[in-house]
Amino acid sequence: MQLDTNFVRAQFPQNHWRWAFFENAGGAFVPYSVIQRMTEYMTENQVQPGYPAGPSTQAKQRMDAGHHLMAEMIGAAPEEVTVSASTSINAYVLAQALRPLWQAGDEILVSNLNHEANSGPWRRLQEFGLKIVDWPVTADAGLDMAALPALLNERTRLLAFPHVSNITGEINDVPGITQMAHDKGALVCVDGVAAAPHRAVEARKWDVDFYLFSFYKVFGPHLGCLYGKREHLLKARGQYHYFFPEDDLLHKLNPAGPNHESIAALVGISDYFDTLALHHGLEITDKFERTRQLYQLFVEHEELLARRFVDWATDRERVKLIGPATGTRDVRVPTFSLLLDGVQSADAAKQAAEQGVAVGFGHFYAKRLLESIGIADLQNGVLRCSMAHYNTVEEVDKLTAALDTILRK
Ligand SMILES: Cc1ncc(COP(=O)(O)O)c(C=O)c1O
Repeated sequence: MQLDTNFVRAQFPQNHWRWAFFENAGGAFVPYSVIQRMTEYMTENQVQPGYPAGPSTQAKQRMDAGHHLMAEMIGAAPEEVTVSASTSINAYVLAQALRPLWQAGDEILVSNLNHEANSGPWRRLQEFGLKIVDWPVTADAGLDMAALPALLNERTRLLAFPHVSNITGEINDVPGITQMAHDKGALVCVDGVAAAPHRAVEARKWDVDFYLFSFYKVFGPHLGCLYGKREHLLKARGQYHYFFPEDDLLHKLNPAGPNHESIAALVGISDYFDTLALHHGLEITDKFERTRQLYQLFVEHEELLARRFVDWATDRERVKLIGPATGTRDVRVPTFSLLLDGVQSADAAKQAAEQGVAVGFGHFYAKRLLESIGIADLQNGVLRCSMAHYNTVEEVDKLTAALDTILRK
C-alpha cells in the first residue's frame, strides 16, 4: 500500500502547494484539523480553564484531551509528558531540574552533532562545577561511535545526543547508545526533534530517560514535548511554584505552561492521523499503534523522495552532500544539507525562491557541528532541503531542476 499524497494534500490549506516547499525541518504545515481545533477553542473556550462554568470546564477538557492523546500517541503516560512552549525551554528546565542531583566534578557528555537546544542547557551547568565533555563528530558529520566507550565513565551523569541530525538527516542508534550510557550508570537526553516528523516516537521501547521533540515540526502548533521516565521526573527538582509538590509531574517541569489554544489544538494532529489511517485502511487499535502503522507509509514514501534527491545530488560534481549519500530508510530521513560549489547558500536559497522552491540556508542552530566539519562561513552555512510526507516526486524534480538552473548560472 502506498501513501495517497493527493488525499494527504487535500487535508491542508491549498495555498501551501503553490510552493515546492522544502523547509519542513524548520516547521511543518498544519492540516485543517489542527486549525479547526484551535479556532474552536478560541471561539468557545478562551477563558481561564478548570472552573465550573461551561466554557471553562470544556477548556480544561480540551486541553487535557490534547495532552492525553499526544502521550498515547508516543506510548507514554500523560504524567511522563510535559507539553511546553518549545524543546529549547524543555531542555533548559530539565537541565536546571537535574543539576541539584549532581556533584561538582560529575561529567556530562554532550555531542557536537546536537542542535544547540540539547547542548547549551547542559554546557551551562559548567558554572555549577559540572565537567562538560565533548563528544566530537567524525569528519563526515556523524556520531563518532568508536570514541564513545572511552568518553563514558562512572562519573558520567548524562549523555545528550540527537536521534537525527537536523543538518545531515542521519539516524542514530538510540537504543544502542542508550544501552552503552546505562551500562556506565549515565542517563540519556535524546533530541528527537528532527526524527519525530519521520519516525514514530517509541521512547519506552528505546529505554531513553528523556526524549524531546517539537509539535510544530509534527504537523501541529508551536509547542515542545518532553518525555521523561517517571522515576527520573520524580527525582528531578521542581522548577515551578513552591506549592506544586515534587510528585506533581504534570506541573513541576512546566513553569511556562503550555499555550492553551495550542495544546487543545494537538487533538487535531490525532484527528489528522486518524483520517489518514482510515483512508489507507489501517486498523486503528490505539493511537500508538495507529501512529506506528501510519508512519510506515510515511517512511516508504519519504524513502522514494530521498532516493530521487540523492541520485541527483551524487550525479553532480559541484554538489557536496553533508552526511550519508544514500536515501535508504535505515540510514536517514529526507533532510539534506548541501554545499554548492561556487554558489553561496544564501544566494542559492534566494534564487530557488524565485523559481517557486522554498529551501533554507544557514547553520540552523547546529553551529558547533558546522564548525566541527570546517564550514567557516556560518552566515551562509549550508543549503538545507528538507522533505515531509506531503511532498511529491514532482516537487523533488522541481527542486532539483531549480538547483540545476542555479548551478548553470
Ligand atoms: C534538531 C532540533 N532540536 C531542537 C530544536 C529546537 O526546537 P524548539 O524550536 O522547539 O526549541 C530544533 C529546531 O529547529 C531542531 O531542529
